[in-house]
Amino acid sequence: MKGVILAGGLGTRLYPLTYATNKHLLPVYDKPMIFYPIATLVNSGITEILVVVSGPHAGHFIRVLKNGKELGVKHLEFAYQEKPDGGIADALSLSEDFADNGNIAVILGDNTTDMDLKSAVKSFQKGALLFIKKIDDPHQLKRFGVVVFDAKDPKKIAAIEEKPKIPKSNYVATGLYLYDAKVFDYIRSCKPSWRNELEISDVNNQYIKDVSLSWTELTGFWSDCGTFETLFQANKYWAKKEVGRV
Ligand code: DAU
Repeated sequence: MKGVILAGGLGTRLYPLTYATNKHLLPVYDKPMIFYPIATLVNSGITEILVVVSGPHAGHFIRVLKNGKELGVKHLEFAYQEKPDGGIADALSLSEDFADNGNIAVILGDNTTDMDLKSAVKSFQKGALLFIKKIDDPHQLKRFGVVVFDAKDPKKIAAIEEKPKIPKSNYVATGLYLYDAKVFDYIRSCKPSWRNELEISDVNNQYIKDVSLSWTELTGFWSDCGTFETLFQANKYWAKKEVGRV
């Protein structure tokens, strides 16, 4: 399986930190943020990786990642998202040629986790697999794609609601996904949302309609780094882990 890291967007929630460089190159303890999703892919055996970049600092990625060899990447490609905030699904659409009709593991460039994806990657065959996580803080919940479980079968996901005012569960879709090649047809049929983005939750909802979405609970630590609060939370966790305190 190949891997795709989505590192476009403008990182406006982190202004003024992102005036001078791209969000995904900011430090999370002792490494640039994007090293974490790369390590997650490489540790699961995925060494052919496409990084989607955008915005005014897109060129900075090359200086940091070079050809990826130091990070265990065998083949590193870049794609440039022309509309820097076109949405996650828009960024993902740029990976169609790279995916070459095969399955892909997708990670949002600001997501860090210590879950081992190896067995999920190994057993994935078709459809989509979501990694979901329980979030206890009700204010945090509303920032995410929130899982709605089927009323009759609580093991089944009935929908993903993107940033709902009233969350219907306390499980969120994290920014880690496994997809088959159908994902690109689903993206093509997406319409821009109220925030004028192509939403990944709309793509996932199409898999749900086709009864081809499955899920697993993300075990271990997971945090995005998209806000000051979560960036700080991720820094704290990875710093402690590095010195063996978690
Ligand atoms: O972190 C998990 C959440 O990520 C999910 O629960 C949501 O369903 C999903 O929509 C997403 O929500 P966010 O509002 O946190 O996404 P954000 O706009 O911060 O984008 C996350 C990453 O996606 C960002 O670090 C880079 C990439 N991205 C984003 C946009 C808008 C792109 O590559 N291009 C884009 O146009």
